[in-house]
Amino acid sequence: MSNSRRGQRAALPIVVLISGSGSNLQAIIDAIRDDDLAVEIRAVVSNRADAYGLTRARAANIPAEVVDHKAFDSRAKYEAVLQKLIDQHEPALVILAGYMRILGEAFVGHYQGRMLNIHPSLLPAFPGLNTHQRALDAKATEHGASIHFVTNELDGGPVILQGSVPLLPNDDAQSLAKRVYRQEHQIYPLAIRWFAEGRLTTDAGNVRFEHKLLTRPIQHIGT
Ligand code: GAR
Repeated sequence: MSNSRRGQRAALPIVVLISGSGSNLQAIIDAIRDDDLAVEIRAVVSNRADAYGLTRARAANIPAEVVDHKAFDSRAKYEAVLQKLIDQHEPALVILAGYMRILGEAFVGHYQGRMLNIHPSLLPAFPGLNTHQRALDAKATEHGASIHFVTNELDGGPVILQGSVPLLPNDDAQSLAKRVYRQEHQIYPLAIRWFAEGRLTTDAGNVRFEHKLLTRPIQHIGT
């Protein structure tokens, strides 16, 4: 996006939650750096102190914080602290980027309509873990990744955008994951950009793209 187009809209404040490598976080950081995404990452928060994504955040001069879920004796207490920390940064959107904790109702309700997740499958296929191996075991012909608004149903919120890859004859979980990651790194910055530009909205469980009700996920044509 050119500077003049970008100048029309203030950068959308976001907070990114991670648990691990943070390659999706990096894709978002890169898109901002390339002037392709008018958002400001106010903070990256991990539930794990050893998440490599924290290093990526610090390298980009983004505040990186840890709220270790193991330090709390209940999920409610952990999420109350997490929520307070996130809200101090006043994000318009919360991004789950490889954040591997199941979230409770109060937390999800608080961020309803302003929290996105990326999941490594073509939802509703393969919610949960080990999606690449499960796609192989099911002899699926295609696989991919989905961006969805977060609801209380695990990996079950309305899907906005998907990127697909074919399964190849010699694929194993690792080779498949690599191709799916390529899709992930394209579709997450894109969906966030749509939200930042006001093209993607949600109300009462309905998702609208450019004011039209989204009845099925948009399919990304990527490389
Ligand atoms: C990504 O594949 C993401 O889709 C997945 O975790 C990985 C994180 O990678 N998320 C989930 O499985 C959530 N249910 P990253 O830390 O390199 O972005």
